[in-house]
Parts: sequence; structure tokens; C-alpha cells
Amino acid sequence: MYGHTRRQRSAQSVILALETSCDDTCAAVLDGAGGHLRANVISSQGVHDRFGGVVPEIASRHHLEIVNLVVAQALDQAGATLDDVELVAATRGPGLVGALLVGLCTGKALAAARELPFAAVDHLQGHVAANFICAEGTPGASGGSFEPPFVCLIASGGHTLLALVREHHGFEVLGSTLDDAAGEAFDKGARMLGLGYPGGAALERLAAGGDPHAHSFPGAAGRGGLGVGRQAFARSLDFSFAGLKTALLYRIRELGEAQASAQAADLAASYQAAIVDRLLQRAERALEHCGLDRLAVGGGVAANGELRRRLAELGATVHVPERALCTDNAAMIASAARYAERLPYPDYLGLDAYATGERPPDQVGGRPARPAAKPPGLDEQAAAEQPA
Ligand code: KG4
Ligand code: ZN
Repeated sequence: MYGHTRRQRSAQSVILALETSCDDTCAAVLDGAGGHLRANVISSQGVHDRFGGVVPEIASRHHLEIVNLVVAQALDQAGATLDDVELVAATRGPGLVGALLVGLCTGKALAAARELPFAAVDHLQGHVAANFICAEGTPGASGGSFEPPFVCLIASGGHTLLALVREHHGFEVLGSTLDDAAGEAFDKGARMLGLGYPGGAALERLAAGGDPHAHSFPGAAGRGGLGVGRQAFARSLDFSFAGLKTALLYRIRELGEAQASAQAADLAASYQAAIVDRLLQRAERALEHCGLDRLAVGGGVAANGELRRRLAELGATVHVPERALCTDNAAMIASAARYAERLPYPDYLGLDAYATGERPPDQVGGRPARPAAKPPGLDEQAAAEQPA
């Protein structure tokens, strides 16, 4: 499969993409022309839960061990070979640098061996581009491609932001979290409730048997007399989850071990509802701010059933990709690559990964996220969503 001879381009023309920014080793194959998904292989590393978080060195080593196998599996599932690949893509950042380098270097090497073009993709641009994938026929998901303009809510373990997507390539950041990401809030809450890591899906399962109204957590209810900074935050499109996490900690302490354990399902349901409230309130406000009624979602938290259910109740056209396209995957990287700059061989060989923060000025595969103008005072009523 990894023959080095440069052969005649085949009739099929597919994009092969890799994503290894955290602890999932992912490869996908997508039709270059129509954007139809042919294979989406995700190999999750189950070794990190005992440490309560992803251990970067272990993640990198696991990626190295299986990345070739995952690529071979994706091509096999797609009924394609390397002869069919017209473009190779990989996530360049943000993420764990050691982990990113495995996918990035594998992708560059595969492309270079055949003198193919290469697209380096920003991970967040990938979460946005999951909405452009044609994956018709998936129950519970909106199957076809969702076209810009739309507002995109990205909520993952590392990021929570609202983006204005005017075109397929690039986005403007309307607001983002000031402290924890929504997925981090799920994970930390899950840990306090004695669940493993990552805890979002486990917390959702526990919450299914609980009452979301049993415990009240600071949410969207109004509260007067706040400081200038807090009022500005209340009017903004930014998120904050740290205060919520602390509120859960105090509630568990107040209840004591036995009561907290007896009420674990109620605590999980109420905590989950509070996170979902915050996400939806800001998303609705962003739609209002942009004068749009089209909302898309992405990131691991978009796999949450309660969020998906409440999104469907919004008075807007909402596009929710299937769950495997919300959590980290390479299909979204392939999708973003359709609209990204294709670097010809050998221009990409020196490309490095980037860890966090702003994308570097020379970045390819997504324009740097530009902060958009903050909305003017929309209302005062959300003042209780204070940053912790
Ligand atoms: O996008 P993602 O797979 O990786 C990052 O880029 O971070 O998101 C992972 C996050 C984790 O925090 C995980 O707990 C959360 O998504 N998550 C969920 C669910 N499934 C994954 N959170 C809530 N409910 C879920 N069903
Ligand atoms: Zn992600």
C-alpha cells in the first residue's frame, strides 16, 4: 500500500486526512469533488483515564504505534488506495505538539513520497467544516452539507467559542470562554461525581436518571448590582464555566459524601442543564447579534444528547452533525482541506505544528481567527453568568 512509485492518477480522486491533536488517532477519506464521506476511522486511546487527563508523552507514543494502521484502515474502508489520493491533509494545531507532529509528519511523508499537494488544517476550522460534510442517512443528525453564512458554536474539551462563518474558508470569533472550556466543565464535574476521564459522555448517562431541576446552579437568571466588568461580561458573547464548577464542588461538600452519592444523578442532570443553558443562551444572542437564523455546532460537547435536544427547540435552522463528526475526527480535517490552500510538493516539508492560541501568521489551511466587534449592550438580564 505504501509503494513509493509515482503512478498515473486514478479515476477516483479522494482527500486523505489525519488528525492526532489529542488522544484520538484518526484518518478519513473524503471525495474531493462532492464532499461525500467515504471512511472515518477513529481510534481512541483508552489509557489516559487512570491519570485523570491526557498524558502528552503517552498520547504521542500511541499515535506513533497505530497511525499507519489507521491510515490503511481508512483507505481500505473507502475502497481506495494511495493511487486515488489527490490531496493529503493533517491537523497542524492547536493541540498537543508531540501528538500533532505524528499526524502532521505522517501526512507530509505520505504526500512527499508521491509528490502530492498537502493542506495543513487548523483544528477549529475542522470542527466548523464538519458541517460541510455530506453524511446523509445518519439518524439523529442533519445529513447534508450546511452552507454559510451561519453562526457556529464550537464546544470541545479545549475550546468553547462562537464563530461567524461567512464562507467555507475561515471564520470570525464572536466570543470565547474566559476560563474553562465546556468539555472541561463536563470532565471536571464528572470527576467530582466519581466518574472516569473524559467524563462528558459518562456524566450524560448518569444525568439521564436524574432531575435537572433538583439543584439550582448559577445560570441565566438576572441579578443586579454587579461590577462594571461583570456587566460587560453579561452583555458579551463570551462564556464562563469556572464558577459553575466551583458551585458543584460546594454543593457536593454541603451534602456530604453519602447524600452526594445518593443524589449523584440529580446533581449530574442539574449541572448538565446549567452548562447547556449557558451554551444556548450565548448562541441565541450571537444569532441575534449577527442577524442570522442559522446555527451549526461542533466539538465533542455537541455529542451531548441534552444539548442536541434543546438545540432542536431553538427557533432557528440548526445543523447538528452526527456524533462521530462532532468529537475529534479526521473527516472534518478532510472537509476543511477542500477549501484550504494546497501547498505543492515540496513547499510543505518544513511546516511545524503549533500548540495553542492564535494561529501563526504563516499558517495555512484557515485564515487567522479575527476578533469581531463585540455586540453593543444587548440586555442586562444575563448578569448572573459571572466569570469566576
Ligand atoms: O472535540 P473533542 O473530541 O476534543 C477536543 O478537541 O477537545 O472534545 C472532547 C470533549 C471532552 O471534554 C468530552 O468530555 C466532551 O467533549 N464530550 C461530551 C460528550 N462526549 C464528549 N460532553 C458532554 N456530553 C457528551 N456526550
Ligand atoms: Zn476538537
